[in-house]
Amino acid sequence: MAIPIDLSGRKALVTGVTSGIGLGIARKLAEAGCEVAGCGRSAPGHPGALAFLDAAGRGGRRGRYRSCDITLPGAAGDWVASMAAELGGVDIVVSNAGRNIFAGAAACSEAEWAECMNLDLAAHWRVAQAARPHLEASRGVVLVITSNHAFSTIPGCFPYNVAKAGLVAMVQSLALEWGPAIRAVGIAPGFIDTPGNDTWFSSFPDPAEERRRTERLHPVGRLGTPGEIGALCAFLASPMAGFISGTTLVVDGGRAAAMQ
Ligand SMILES: NC(=O)c1ccc[n+]([C@@H]2O[C@H](COP(=O)([O-])OP(=O)(O)OC[C@H]3O[C@@H](n4cnc5c(N)ncnc54)[C@H](OP(=O)(O)O)[C@@H]3O)[C@@H](O)[C@H]2O)c1
Repeated sequence: MAIPIDLSGRKALVTGVTSGIGLGIARKLAEAGCEVAGCGRSAPGHPGALAFLDAAGRGGRRGRYRSCDITLPGAAGDWVASMAAELGGVDIVVSNAGRNIFAGAAACSEAEWAECMNLDLAAHWRVAQAARPHLEASRGVVLVITSNHAFSTIPGCFPYNVAKAGLVAMVQSLALEWGPAIRAVGIAPGFIDTPGNDTWFSSFPDPAEERRRTERLHPVGRLGTPGEIGALCAFLASPMAGFISGTTLVVDGGRAAAMQ
Protein backbone atom coordinates (compact mmCIF):
# COMPACT_ATOMS: atom_id res chain seq x y z
CA MET A 1 0.00 0.00 0.00
CA ALA A 2 1.46 3.38 -1.01
CA ILE A 3 2.12 5.65 1.90
CA PRO A 4 0.08 8.92 1.91
CA ILE A 5 2.74 10.85 3.83
CA ASP A 6 5.10 13.28 2.14
CA LEU A 7 8.60 13.40 3.61
CA SER A 8 10.20 14.56 0.36
CA GLY A 9 13.73 15.82 0.82
CA ARG A 10 14.02 14.58 4.41
CA LYS A 11 17.21 12.78 5.33
CA ALA A 12 16.86 9.68 7.47
CA LEU A 13 19.36 7.45 9.27
CA VAL A 14 18.19 3.93 10.16
CA THR A 15 20.27 1.34 12.02
CA GLY A 16 19.85 -2.38 11.39
CA VAL A 17 18.51 -2.21 7.83
CA THR A 18 19.74 -5.54 6.46
CA SER A 19 16.76 -7.52 7.73
CA GLY A 20 13.33 -7.52 9.32
CA ILE A 21 11.89 -4.37 10.84
CA GLY A 22 14.76 -2.05 9.85
CA LEU A 23 14.40 -3.03 6.22
CA GLY A 24 10.65 -2.37 6.42
CA ILE A 25 11.28 1.03 8.00
CA ALA A 26 13.79 1.99 5.30
CA ARG A 27 11.33 0.95 2.58
CA LYS A 28 8.44 3.02 3.99
CA LEU A 29 10.60 6.10 4.63
CA ALA A 30 11.88 5.90 1.05
CA GLU A 31 8.33 5.51 -0.27
CA ALA A 32 7.41 8.64 1.68
CA GLY A 33 10.19 10.55 -0.10
CA CYS A 34 13.14 10.32 2.30
CA GLU A 35 16.75 9.86 1.40
CA VAL A 36 17.74 6.93 3.61
CA ALA A 37 21.16 5.89 4.91
CA GLY A 38 21.47 2.61 6.79
CA CYS A 39 23.86 0.31 8.57
CA GLY A 40 24.27 -3.22 9.80
CA ARG A 41 27.36 -5.29 10.48
CA SER A 42 26.97 -7.06 7.13
CA ALA A 43 29.33 -6.22 4.27
CA PRO A 44 27.99 -3.94 1.54
CA GLY A 45 27.65 -6.87 -0.89
CA HIS A 46 25.55 -8.97 1.53
CA PRO A 47 22.01 -9.79 0.26
CA GLY A 48 20.54 -7.85 3.19
CA ALA A 49 22.54 -4.73 2.33
CA LEU A 50 21.52 -5.08 -1.31
CA ALA A 51 17.86 -5.47 -0.29
CA PHE A 52 18.20 -2.24 1.69
CA LEU A 53 19.74 -0.38 -1.26
CA ASP A 54 16.86 -1.60 -3.44
CA ALA A 55 14.28 -0.46 -0.84
CA ALA A 56 15.97 2.90 -0.24
CA GLY A 57 16.27 3.47 -3.98
CA ARG A 58 12.51 3.73 -4.44
CA GLY A 59 11.44 6.87 -6.24
CA GLY A 60 14.82 7.25 -7.93
CA ARG A 61 16.69 8.24 -4.78
CA ARG A 62 20.04 6.70 -3.85
CA GLY A 63 20.28 4.68 -0.66
CA ARG A 64 23.51 4.77 1.26
CA TYR A 65 24.83 1.81 3.22
CA ARG A 66 27.91 1.47 5.37
CA SER A 67 28.87 -1.52 7.54
CA CYS A 68 29.03 -0.59 11.19
CA ASP A 69 28.94 -2.59 14.41
CA ILE A 70 27.28 -0.03 16.67
CA THR A 71 28.51 -1.81 19.80
CA LEU A 72 32.16 -0.99 19.07
CA PRO A 73 33.71 2.10 20.71
CA GLY A 74 33.32 5.16 18.49
CA ALA A 75 31.63 3.22 15.67
CA ALA A 76 28.12 4.68 15.97
CA GLY A 77 29.51 8.22 16.12
CA ASP A 78 31.71 7.66 13.05
CA TRP A 79 28.79 6.18 11.09
CA VAL A 80 26.44 9.04 11.96
CA ALA A 81 29.10 11.65 11.12
CA SER A 82 29.95 10.10 7.75
CA MET A 83 26.31 9.65 6.73
CA ALA A 84 25.32 13.14 7.87
CA ALA A 85 28.18 14.55 5.77
CA GLU A 86 27.12 12.53 2.70
CA LEU A 87 23.45 13.43 3.05
CA GLY A 88 24.09 17.05 3.99
CA GLY A 89 22.18 16.83 7.27
CA VAL A 90 19.81 14.58 9.22
CA ASP A 91 16.09 15.09 9.87
CA ILE A 92 15.06 11.63 11.11
CA VAL A 93 16.90 8.95 13.08
CA VAL A 94 15.40 5.51 13.60
CA SER A 95 17.50 3.61 16.12
CA ASN A 96 16.40 0.07 15.39
CA ALA A 97 19.34 -2.36 15.46
CA GLY A 98 18.99 -4.89 18.24
CA ARG A 99 18.85 -8.57 19.07
CA ASN A 100 16.89 -10.84 21.41
CA ILE A 101 19.26 -11.84 24.16
CA PHE A 102 17.06 -14.20 26.15
CA ALA A 103 19.09 -15.77 28.98
CA GLY A 104 16.84 -15.84 32.05
CA ALA A 105 17.55 -14.02 35.29
CA ALA A 106 19.22 -17.00 36.98
CA ALA A 107 21.30 -18.27 34.06
CA CYS A 108 22.32 -14.92 32.55
CA SER A 109 26.11 -14.56 32.45
CA GLU A 110 27.99 -11.30 32.95
CA ALA A 111 28.97 -11.47 29.26
CA GLU A 112 25.33 -11.82 28.12
CA TRP A 113 24.26 -8.96 30.39
CA ALA A 114 27.05 -6.71 29.07
CA GLU A 115 26.34 -7.60 25.42
CA CYS A 116 22.62 -6.93 25.83
CA MET A 117 23.07 -3.62 27.69
CA ASN A 118 25.58 -2.54 25.04
CA LEU A 119 23.55 -3.41 21.93
CA ASP A 120 19.95 -3.10 23.14
CA LEU A 121 20.37 -0.03 25.36
CA ALA A 122 23.64 1.94 25.25
CA ALA A 123 24.09 1.80 21.46
CA HIS A 124 20.70 3.52 20.99
CA TRP A 125 21.89 6.36 23.23
CA ARG A 126 25.19 6.59 21.32
CA VAL A 127 23.40 6.82 17.96
CA ALA A 128 21.00 9.47 19.28
CA GLN A 129 23.80 11.42 20.95
CA ALA A 130 25.91 11.47 17.79
CA ALA A 131 22.92 12.64 15.75
CA ARG A 132 21.81 15.30 18.24
CA PRO A 133 23.61 18.33 16.69
CA HIS A 134 22.22 17.44 13.26
CA LEU A 135 18.69 16.93 14.61
CA GLU A 136 18.91 20.16 16.55
CA ALA A 137 19.79 22.01 13.34
CA SER A 138 16.92 20.41 11.43
CA ARG A 139 14.42 20.38 14.34
CA GLY A 140 14.21 16.67 13.74
CA VAL A 141 12.99 13.51 15.42
CA VAL A 142 14.60 10.43 16.93
CA LEU A 143 12.55 7.23 16.93
CA VAL A 144 13.71 4.35 19.11
CA ILE A 145 12.61 0.77 18.50
CA THR A 146 12.06 -0.87 21.86
CA SER A 147 9.67 -3.83 22.39
CA ASN A 148 6.43 -4.84 24.05
CA HIS A 149 8.77 -6.70 26.44
CA ALA A 150 9.47 -3.27 27.95
CA PHE A 151 5.99 -3.34 29.53
CA SER A 152 5.27 -7.01 30.22
CA THR A 153 7.30 -10.10 29.55
CA ILE A 154 7.44 -13.87 29.86
CA PRO A 155 9.89 -16.01 31.83
CA GLY A 156 13.31 -16.42 30.23
CA CYS A 157 13.49 -13.11 28.36
CA PHE A 158 15.85 -11.40 30.83
CA PRO A 159 17.97 -9.28 30.22
CA TYR A 160 16.41 -8.21 26.86
CA ASN A 161 13.27 -6.93 28.61
CA VAL A 162 15.42 -4.92 31.05
CA ALA A 163 17.29 -3.16 28.23
CA LYS A 164 14.05 -2.48 26.34
CA ALA A 165 12.44 -1.00 29.47
CA GLY A 166 15.51 1.22 29.76
CA LEU A 167 14.82 2.56 26.27
CA VAL A 168 11.37 3.74 27.39
CA ALA A 169 13.07 5.83 30.07
CA MET A 170 15.74 6.99 27.62
CA VAL A 171 13.07 8.31 25.25
CA GLN A 172 11.58 10.33 28.12
CA SER A 173 14.97 11.87 28.93
CA LEU A 174 15.75 12.71 25.30
CA ALA A 175 12.37 14.41 24.86
CA LEU A 176 12.79 16.42 28.07
CA GLU A 177 16.43 17.37 27.61
CA TRP A 178 16.58 17.87 23.83
CA GLY A 179 13.13 19.36 23.22
CA PRO A 180 11.71 21.56 21.88
CA ALA A 181 14.18 21.32 18.98
CA ILE A 182 14.08 17.52 18.90
CA ARG A 183 11.17 15.13 19.43
CA ALA A 184 11.88 11.63 20.77
CA VAL A 185 9.38 8.79 20.44
CA GLY A 186 9.63 5.08 21.27
CA ILE A 187 7.95 2.34 19.28
CA ALA A 188 7.30 -0.96 21.04
CA PRO A 189 6.51 -3.64 18.45
CA GLY A 190 4.83 -6.86 19.46
CA PHE A 191 5.14 -10.04 17.37
CA ILE A 192 6.30 -8.96 13.90
CA ASP A 193 6.59 -11.34 10.96
CA THR A 194 10.37 -11.23 10.49
CA PRO A 195 12.92 -13.83 9.32
CA GLY A 196 14.02 -14.27 12.93
CA ASN A 197 10.53 -15.13 14.11
CA ASP A 198 10.07 -17.44 11.12
CA THR A 199 13.20 -19.31 12.23
CA TRP A 200 11.72 -19.51 15.71
CA PHE A 201 8.50 -21.06 14.36
CA SER A 202 10.66 -23.56 12.46
CA SER A 203 12.03 -24.85 15.75
CA PHE A 204 8.61 -26.38 16.57
CA PRO A 205 7.58 -29.87 15.39
CA ASP A 206 4.63 -28.28 13.55
CA PRO A 207 5.73 -24.72 12.57
CA ALA A 208 2.46 -23.91 10.78
CA GLU A 209 0.37 -24.86 13.82
CA GLU A 210 2.64 -22.86 16.15
CA ARG A 211 2.26 -19.85 13.85
CA ARG A 212 -1.55 -20.24 13.89
CA ARG A 213 -1.52 -20.59 17.68
CA THR A 214 0.53 -17.40 17.98
CA GLU A 215 -1.71 -15.53 15.56
CA ARG A 216 -4.76 -16.49 17.65
CA LEU A 217 -3.19 -14.76 20.68
CA HIS A 218 -3.67 -11.46 18.87
CA PRO A 219 -7.08 -9.74 18.76
CA VAL A 220 -6.33 -8.72 15.14
CA GLY A 221 -5.82 -12.42 14.32
CA ARG A 222 -2.37 -12.10 12.77
CA LEU A 223 1.22 -11.01 13.29
CA GLY A 224 2.41 -7.49 12.49
CA THR A 225 4.51 -6.64 9.45
CA PRO A 226 7.78 -4.66 9.16
CA GLY A 227 5.92 -2.33 6.79
CA GLU A 228 3.42 -1.44 9.52
CA ILE A 229 6.26 -0.39 11.81
CA GLY A 230 7.76 1.54 8.89
CA ALA A 231 4.48 3.32 8.17
CA LEU A 232 4.25 4.35 11.84
CA CYS A 233 7.81 5.74 11.64
CA ALA A 234 6.84 7.79 8.59
CA PHE A 235 3.81 9.18 10.43
CA LEU A 236 5.80 9.94 13.59
CA ALA A 237 8.44 11.74 11.52
CA SER A 238 5.83 13.89 9.81
CA PRO A 239 4.46 17.25 11.01
CA MET A 240 1.14 15.47 11.77
CA ALA A 241 2.88 13.93 14.80
CA GLY A 242 4.35 17.21 16.03
CA PHE A 243 2.65 16.91 19.45
CA ILE A 244 3.94 13.36 20.08
CA SER A 245 7.15 13.21 22.12
CA GLY A 246 8.52 11.51 25.21
CA THR A 247 6.24 8.52 24.95
CA THR A 248 6.40 4.96 23.62
CA LEU A 249 3.67 3.56 21.41
CA VAL A 250 2.85 -0.16 21.68
CA VAL A 251 2.11 -1.80 18.31
CA ASP A 252 1.08 -5.34 19.21
CA GLY A 253 -2.18 -6.14 17.42
CA GLY A 254 -4.03 -5.76 20.71
CA ARG A 255 -2.22 -8.59 22.49
CA ALA A 256 -1.54 -6.59 25.65
CA ALA A 257 -5.28 -6.08 26.10
CA ALA A 258 -5.71 -9.74 27.04
CA MET A 259 -5.59 -10.65 30.75
CA GLN A 260 -3.45 -13.79 30.44
N1 LIG B 1 10.76 -9.01 15.31
C1 LIG B 1 9.99 -8.73 16.34
O1 LIG B 1 8.93 -9.35 16.54
C2 LIG B 1 10.38 -7.61 17.28
C3 LIG B 1 9.49 -7.29 18.31
C4 LIG B 1 9.81 -6.25 19.18
C5 LIG B 1 10.97 -5.53 19.01
N2 LIG B 1 11.82 -5.86 18.00
C6 LIG B 1 13.02 -5.03 17.85
O2 LIG B 1 13.11 -4.55 16.53
C7 LIG B 1 14.47 -4.38 16.17
C8 LIG B 1 14.74 -5.15 14.88
O3 LIG B 1 14.48 -6.52 15.10
P1 LIG B 1 14.24 -7.56 13.92
O4 LIG B 1 13.33 -8.57 14.43
O5 LIG B 1 13.95 -6.86 12.67
O6 LIG B 1 15.70 -8.23 13.89
P2 LIG B 1 16.58 -8.78 12.70
O7 LIG B 1 15.74 -9.21 11.54
O8 LIG B 1 17.51 -9.76 13.32
O9 LIG B 1 17.42 -7.49 12.26
C9 LIG B 1 18.31 -6.91 13.15
C10 LIG B 1 19.08 -5.84 12.41
O10 LIG B 1 20.01 -5.24 13.33
C11 LIG B 1 21.32 -5.30 12.79
N3 LIG B 1 22.29 -5.44 13.86
C12 LIG B 1 22.35 -6.39 14.83
N4 LIG B 1 23.39 -6.19 15.62
C13 LIG B 1 24.04 -5.09 15.14
C14 LIG B 1 25.18 -4.38 15.55
N5 LIG B 1 25.94 -4.77 16.59
N6 LIG B 1 25.55 -3.29 14.84
C15 LIG B 1 24.81 -2.87 13.77
N7 LIG B 1 23.70 -3.50 13.35
C16 LIG B 1 23.33 -4.61 14.03
C17 LIG B 1 21.30 -6.49 11.84
O11 LIG B 1 22.26 -6.31 10.81
P3 LIG B 1 23.53 -7.26 10.61
O12 LIG B 1 23.07 -8.67 10.76
O13 LIG B 1 23.95 -6.90 9.21
O14 LIG B 1 24.48 -6.83 11.65
C18 LIG B 1 19.89 -6.40 11.26
O15 LIG B 1 19.88 -5.50 10.17
C19 LIG B 1 15.30 -4.87 17.36
O16 LIG B 1 15.66 -3.77 18.16
C20 LIG B 1 14.33 -5.77 18.10
O17 LIG B 1 14.61 -5.87 19.47
C21 LIG B 1 11.56 -6.89 17.14
